[in-house]
Amino acid sequence: MLRTDDWWRDAVIYQVYPRSFADSDGDGMGDLPGITSRLPQLKELGVDAVWLSPFYPSPQHDAGYDVADYRGVDRRFGDLGDADKLIAEAHNLDLKIIVDLVPNHTSDQHEWFRAALAAGPGSPERERYIFRDEPPNSWQSVFGGSAWEQVPDGQWYLHLFDVSQPDLNWGNPEVRAEFLDILRFWLDRGVDGFRVDVAHGLVKESNLADWTQSSQILGGLDPAGPPPPMWDQEGVHEIYRSWRALLDEYQGGRILVAEAWVAPASRLARYVRPDEMHQAFNFPYLEAQWRPADLRAVIDESLEASGTVGAPTTWVLSNHDVVRHATRLGYPVGTPRMHGVGAEDPQPDTALGLRRARAATLLMLALPGSVYLYQGEELGLPEHTTMPDEFREDPAWERSGHAERGRDGCRVPLPWEADAPSYGFGPADASWLPQPATWAEYALDRQQGIPGSTWELYRSALELRRQHGLGGGSLTWQDGPFSFRNRDLLVLTNFEEEPVELPPGARVLLSSEPLDGDGRVPADVTVWAAL
Ligand code: NOJ
Repeated sequence: MLRTDDWWRDAVIYQVYPRSFADSDGDGMGDLPGITSRLPQLKELGVDAVWLSPFYPSPQHDAGYDVADYRGVDRRFGDLGDADKLIAEAHNLDLKIIVDLVPNHTSDQHEWFRAALAAGPGSPERERYIFRDEPPNSWQSVFGGSAWEQVPDGQWYLHLFDVSQPDLNWGNPEVRAEFLDILRFWLDRGVDGFRVDVAHGLVKESNLADWTQSSQILGGLDPAGPPPPMWDQEGVHEIYRSWRALLDEYQGGRILVAEAWVAPASRLARYVRPDEMHQAFNFPYLEAQWRPADLRAVIDESLEASGTVGAPTTWVLSNHDVVRHATRLGYPVGTPRMHGVGAEDPQPDTALGLRRARAATLLMLALPGSVYLYQGEELGLPEHTTMPDEFREDPAWERSGHAERGRDGCRVPLPWEADAPSYGFGPADASWLPQPATWAEYALDRQQGIPGSTWELYRSALELRRQHGLGGGSLTWQDGPFSFRNRDLLVLTNFEEEPVELPPGARVLLSSEPLDGDGRVPADVTVWAAL
């Protein structure tokens, strides 16, 4: 790891979803003291930084991505003192803390939106949001249904997400000043960075031109065509330049990470130019199919695009918005992107999914750049694919008219102890989403110290990644089966059914599954070998 202000260039950053990580008080909802108590285990796993999804006061209509107060902590998760303790304890352990910033929209319970409703049409309060007398277009919400909602006095406001998430008007200087102040608030409390939600959405095309194509954040769009009027507008970059200038006033390498569903990679690279953000999530990588040609193409394209602007490439396979990769990879190769899985849907091949997930992770952790992990993937956790629908909380489930199951299946509280109530998620037998009956086998205490367990595979990989400086290395493709060199390691993944030979002299350091009796690499296995 680079122990300078450039720590983020090769960092492994672990996403904590506060609702579901660890519950200290037994109410079935994770909280900040729960996270603090488990930080030593993340240190032991070997990550460099922790990104926390939102914990701010919120009515929780979109699991906290509907923020009512950007400078506080929701009572469900603790208070500001708990946030301070979490940051201090992380720093004691030499872990960085990244918090989530949600600038595209507020909650409808935010004081600004309440004031806007009270003040009425034409008021400066309404100018902080996007109100019109009539819907000027037929934009659809990402979660389904119209993106316009009428208020009692007849005006309409824009919400690209849930109706409870009104979009802010970034043309208004007051909005810009407010967010600089929010950044300062958390920087002064010691956070090391911000993950910027919907970073490609803040600025809308000035005429709010109509758009009848897909309202999905990504997908269904022609990458060569013009960007849709709500996404990836030129004006967003000026905002990030102003934020970068502010962060640069602070010591210790504070960073901005873009959540921008933008394609192709060359467009995404514009968010990480030297005077803008530091990193951007690599969603094309997450979406790539388990095919060597597809992976090689997306790896090359990503490295090339970020290289042109001098930013590190990032890699990610799972997060709180997508079906977990241990489940995705248990479906036939070529299966299109899934928006959740329900009990009546085709079910994955769990064993194949885990086998491929372990191979995919080992491949990813050998790539140069920075890596994002999502809580639970180090346990090999699958999606909860049979959750009864009555538990679903994701607004996408209702707003899509039940066409999408939504994202609850990847947000289920973690199993820590196989034999404890709520699998050790908290002291009580309570969890805000039901945990599958099969989860004892994934619990941390069934994996720590057990050779071959997924947790031990991650721990060993992170240790070797650091020892060999893979994050700061470079990739050279090798002839033959899918394989590359990074520093002194050869990394090989076998995508074929037949086992493959390693080159003569290769000494295996780590392998996602045992090799066969002849020392060959079986199907769906990744190997790290010294040459
Ligand atoms: C992206 C977040 O990751 C997702 O969970 C949320 O629903 C949307 N942005 C809206 O804030």
